[in-house]
Amino acid sequence: MLTGKDWWKKAVFYQIYPRSFMDSNGDGIGDLPGIIEKLDYLNDGTQGSLGIDAIWFSPFFKSPEYDFGYDVSDYCDIDPRFGTLEDFDRLVAEAHRRGIRVMLDLVVNHTSHEHPWFKESRSSRDNPKRDWYIWRDGVGPRRRPPNNWRNNFFGPAWTWDEATQQYYLHSFLPQQPDLNWFNPEVRKAIEGVIRFWLERGADGFRLDVAHIYCKDEQLRSNPPFYRRPKIEERMSPGDRSLMMNLYTIFGLPEFQVKRYNQHHPETHRVLKRFRQILDEYPEKTSIGEILSEDPQVVASYYGNGNDELHMNFYFDFTHCRWKAGAFRRCVERWERLLPPEAWPAYTLSNHDIMRAISRYGGGEDADARARLLAMMLLTLRGTPFIYYGEEIGMKEVRLSRRQLKDPVGKKWYPFYPGRDGCRTPMQWDSGPGAGFTTGEPWLPFGPELERRNVAAQEKDPASLLNFYRKLIWLRKEQPALLEGSYRSVVEGIPDDCYLYLRETEEQRLLVALNFSSRRRNISLPSQLKASRMLISTDPRRAAGELDGLSELGPYEGCLISLNP
Ligand code: NOJ
Repeated sequence: MLTGKDWWKKAVFYQIYPRSFMDSNGDGIGDLPGIIEKLDYLNDGTQGSLGIDAIWFSPFFKSPEYDFGYDVSDYCDIDPRFGTLEDFDRLVAEAHRRGIRVMLDLVVNHTSHEHPWFKESRSSRDNPKRDWYIWRDGVGPRRRPPNNWRNNFFGPAWTWDEATQQYYLHSFLPQQPDLNWFNPEVRKAIEGVIRFWLERGADGFRLDVAHIYCKDEQLRSNPPFYRRPKIEERMSPGDRSLMMNLYTIFGLPEFQVKRYNQHHPETHRVLKRFRQILDEYPEKTSIGEILSEDPQVVASYYGNGNDELHMNFYFDFTHCRWKAGAFRRCVERWERLLPPEAWPAYTLSNHDIMRAISRYGGGEDADARARLLAMMLLTLRGTPFIYYGEEIGMKEVRLSRRQLKDPVGKKWYPFYPGRDGCRTPMQWDSGPGAGFTTGEPWLPFGPELERRNVAAQEKDPASLLNFYRKLIWLRKEQPALLEGSYRSVVEGIPDDCYLYLRETEEQRLLVALNFSSRRRNISLPSQLKASRMLISTDPRRAAGELDGLSELGPYEGCLISLNP
């Protein structure tokens, strides 16, 4: 097991969506005992396993599952669909025995509407827990909502409660009421939840939508979308009034600048307090889901690099174009913006977005591209997060309306099919239940099951799975990959290639990635002498001594050792 205060900087993380990893009881839904069965696949201490060091589990706490676990009705218990607290204890023990750390998903911007706290809160206006949530009177004779805020799944952020004749705020579904983070009792209760799991063996938390905990206390309305300085500057007064009219006529309230319901300064204080709690325990960590189109805002959640969140996801890769320069600029921007002590975290996919392999075309080049991305993800300066199934090239699954489970997809189909397509069950083999279940899987399996499954790829030395394994195990032995500096190489490099150095005093490595489908000539600056190929994405290119590097094959990525 990686140890020491900073173990998470060297770790490879793996995200498991518990409903979809392994079903042990044939009900078509993954569960904790199922995950335990598969821990050896993730890391059995040998190079025949994937070799990951930590798992981030999407929530498995008690939940009525309006948002599949992101609506928690008991923070300190496991949902019976997934198992029991005893299963959890066994999971932690078995994971730790294999050197795998356990990260839980802390979903505390909101609870489920079935949480006893909310049930109490909504029971009467003078209930002691009334102020644990955000309740307001309607405005004017028609009792309109207190402001124009929209929820993140489309629609108003306020729901009228007939019984107590007030609105409550929900940044997501009406079944996910927002907690009032200005209430000290709420903070105390959540501190209790954090300690509960830390004491039970959790190694840290992923913090769900941690940028929206606190909202404007005056609940001011957000400005409409076109009132963004950059857009507005470019508009003539005529265009501006036309926009305003269109906005009013067509009622486009979804398009608003979220000025007053996110990134509140008080949220940083809450997160700094979380950090203090985590620091009371040895070797704990955190990663924030902070959503902002401005990476500087995301970077601010690192505090001074040591006093707020340990890591924050950098989501630019999830919408970056397939261009070497675009990826390079994303990385350089992030490297530039982070406070000196802050540690980056990278991801290509998660349970909310289309799987990367499909996002980048999914066609004939899909596998070559997936290998290239894997090499980039696992060799940048920072902690990589792999989404389950990415290592076998599982693709996004197209679902019919009838097959959809995600409420967001159901609402917006066919314009937006929702998030089920990236949440389909893990493909262990090509049998009828794909080795995932003996029953009916809760979502269908993906395309090309006969080759996109673990059993088939284990047998093939050239498979994506075996490439991931080799690279992850190799990474563990390269100090420059684990803690080296990052520097792009641009001089003499074709536009469609992305090259960077990872360096410590003892080791110099070069990562060379060709984003084009054609062979590319490379002329490295004279001071960079390629001396050894450690691994290439092309299984035909063997590891071994090199006398320089002069070309990269189509979509080829190489990890190369340089002369000191
Ligand atoms: C972000 C999570 O990743 C997403 O799945 C969820 O629906 C929302 N937060 C609400 O908790």
